[in-house]
Amino acid sequence: MANPFKPTAGMTPPVLIGREDDLEEFEMALDNGVGDLGRLAYVTGPRGIGKTALLNAYGDIARDRKWDVIDETADQGFLDRLVEALTDTKTKVRSVELPTVRLDLGGTPVGLSTSLGGISLEPTQRALTFRRAAGQRLDVLEKKNRGLLITLDEVQASDITELRALATGMQHLIRERRNVAFVFAGLPSMVEDVLNDNVLTFLRRANRTVLSGIPIPEVHHAFRTIITTNGKQASDEVLDTLSASTRGYPFMIQLVGYWAWAYTKNSNVITTETTQKSDSASPTRSG
Ligand SMILES: Nc1ncnc2c1ncn2[C@@H]1O[C@H](COP(=O)(O)OP(=O)(O)O)[C@@H](O)[C@H]1O
Ligand SMILES: [Mg+2]
Repeated sequence: MANPFKPTAGMTPPVLIGREDDLEEFEMALDNGVGDLGRLAYVTGPRGIGKTALLNAYGDIARDRKWDVIDETADQGFLDRLVEALTDTKTKVRSVELPTVRLDLGGTPVGLSTSLGGISLEPTQRALTFRRAAGQRLDVLEKKNRGLLITLDEVQASDITELRALATGMQHLIRERRNVAFVFAGLPSMVEDVLNDNVLTFLRRANRTVLSGIPIPEVHHAFRTIITTNGKQASDEVLDTLSASTRGYPFMIQLVGYWAWAYTKNSNVITTETTQKSDSASPTRSG
C-alpha cells in the first residue's frame, strides 16, 4: 500500500484538516458574485502551516465552478509569466497591445515572453499590460458566466515592483466589477512589508486569513480516517499518541503519519511501538 502521508512542502495533503471555515468562506466569496470582499484575500502563517495547500484548495473550488485558475509563485519575472499565461491557451486573444510595440498574434500562439525579450516595462505600463491581458481573458470567460482566479504564493517584499504592478492592475479590474478573484500568500513578515508599502494600500483591504495549528482532536479524527481508508488500523490510544506528537502542526501531521505508516510496512496495524519509533525519527520533533 502506498504511503498516503506526504510530508512535502506544497503537496496537497490526503485530507485538508481543519480548514473547513476557510474553504466555506472562499466558496461564498465566489458564489456571492462580483464585489464580494472575500475575492481579494491573503493567507499568512509560518512555514509548513499549510498556506500553499490552502491556495491549492481555493484553486480547486474555483475550478469546480469552471473558473480559470492561474497559480503563480512570486519570484522574479512572475508578472511576465502571468501575462503569458493569460494570453496563452485556447482563449482567442487576437492581439495584445503593449506600450511600445503592438504584437499581432494573428491566431497563432506566440510565446509572449520570447517576443518581449529585451523590453523592460515600467511599473505603470506593466500594470496596464496585465490589466489588458486579464481583461481580454475575462471578456471571453464572463460571456460563459465564468471567472478568473489568480493565486500568488511565496510573496516576498523583494518582488515589490512586480507586486505593485499586479495590485494596481487588479485594483482596476475589481473596480470595473470584473468576475475576478485574487489570493496571495506569504510569511507574516511579508504582511508587514507588503501591506505597509504606500503603493499597495489597496491590498490592506484584502480579507486576511492567519493560519494556525489544527486542534488535536481533529488531527486524531483525520488520522483515523486516512489510516483506515488506506487499509491499516490503529487503536484510539495509538491515534492519541500520534496526534499529540504533531502538536497540530500540518507539516508534522504528514511527517508523523508518514513514519508511522512506513514503520508498519509489513503489518496492517500501527502499534504503540511504531509510534515511539516514528516519534524519534521525526527530525523536527523538538523544533
Ligand atoms: N490542513 C492540512 N491538513 C493536513 N496536512 C496539511 C494541511 N495543510 C498543509 N498540510 C501539509 O503540511 C505540509 C506543509 O504544507 P504547505 O502548504 O507546504 O505549508 P506552507 O505553504 O505554509 O509552508 C505539506 O506536506 C501539506 O501537505
Ligand atoms: Mg508554501
